Amino acid sequence: MQNFEFYNPTKIVFGQGEIAKLQELVSASRVLLLYGEGSIKKNGVYDQVISALGNKTLFEISGVKPNPTYEKAMEAVQLIRKEKIEFILAVGGGSVIDSAKFIALAAPYSGEAWNILTQRDLALKEALPFGSVLTLPATGSEMNCYFVISKGDDKLSSGSPLVYPKFSILDPSVSFSLNDRQVGNGVVDAFVHVMEQYLTTDNKAPLQDRFAEAVLKTLIEEGPKSYLTKDYDARASHMWCATMALSSVFGVGVSQDWSTHMIGHELTAFYGMDHARSLAVVFPSMMWVMRKEKFSKIKQYGERIWNIPVNNDEDVKKVIHVTEEFFQKLGVPTKLKDYGIGAEAVTKIVDRFTSRGFEPMGESAAVTLEKVKEVLLGAQG
Ligand code: NZQ
Ligand code: ZN
Repeated sequence: MQNFEFYNPTKIVFGQGEIAKLQELVSASRVLLLYGEGSIKKNGVYDQVISALGNKTLFEISGVKPNPTYEKAMEAVQLIRKEKIEFILAVGGGSVIDSAKFIALAAPYSGEAWNILTQRDLALKEALPFGSVLTLPATGSEMNCYFVISKGDDKLSSGSPLVYPKFSILDPSVSFSLNDRQVGNGVVDAFVHVMEQYLTTDNKAPLQDRFAEAVLKTLIEEGPKSYLTKDYDARASHMWCATMALSSVFGVGVSQDWSTHMIGHELTAFYGMDHARSLAVVFPSMMWVMRKEKFSKIKQYGERIWNIPVNNDEDVKKVIHVTEEFFQKLGVPTKLKDYGIGAEAVTKIVDRFTSRGFEPMGESAAVTLEKVKEVLLGAQG
């Protein structure tokens, strides 16, 4: 096991009816309410938030889109500076919460805010405090310090320990207004988050492995129920799995491989693919292309999660097949051709990586540009 530090200060308030607790959770008096394109007005979440925060001076910025933009975030930054806003409340899915993180860092930052995403060594000193009311179980943004923001066809991710939410309210019942596609996407995103921290090499970290496997098993058992029904307990498990999947609990002390996400972000940037759908096409192909490097973990995954003995390439194929079947059962197609995307994607993405000064990805930097090409070709279908 590698050395690690673990720090996660986000308070989670979980369960039906808990949005009312905003009253005690928010102590600031000038609050920015940040939300998306209106789902919270239709499902009653907006009303619950307003009734809990009735005594505050509230400002609002709405219209945060999926794959949230830099321009919308900067609109909020201007308002915060002008109105001396003290706290941000993000109400929505990963896009709204990610925006709140970027805004929280950008508001007190005097330089060019886009640098926050492009310069890894930027010494950021402060951030505005913020909390969240989660409405879509998927990204884990509600309990981590990462964010993804888009500008034109650039979609970049970053993170800072300054932007853990102070609190996140997780009421599974508010997610019942999601359509099936968003629920299925949410299960797939959480599943792949676990896999990118788990499917590497043997890190001699059995607790992290068992914890990851517990989340995978739970998603396999409860995910399809959460997708197809409005069963509160299944949705609650789906939501808690998604939060745990990217809260770093089992990412500590182990090597990780986020190359599926890195390639997936480019598919979203170029073709507008839903985030989870981009992962569902890249990840199975990544498993196949990197099967030699990841063999011991694929074997463990196949045997412990799917009861498939894994000794050779044919067995690896079976494991990839059941993984794809699981994604498909959640209504998520797993080949690029299912999304009308052809082989031109390969050159586009490889050129984009090259122009940015590509460095090999993965736990042992074995995902070279050549491998990226193979993964995208293999994902065509
Ligand atoms: O905008 P509104 O009207 O609210 O509608 C949203 C949006 O259209 C809707 N929605 C959310 N909750 C709803 C609802 N509709 C009905 N009822 C509800 N209860 O769902 C749509 C998608 O929302 P979005 O926030 O975009 O989805 P998600 O949570 O999947 O977030 C995706 C973003 O998170 C980033 C992705 O790249 C993408 O930009 N990620 C962030 C991560 C992180 N911070 O750790 C990690 C992830 O890997 C991911 O990259
Ligand atoms: Zn993701």
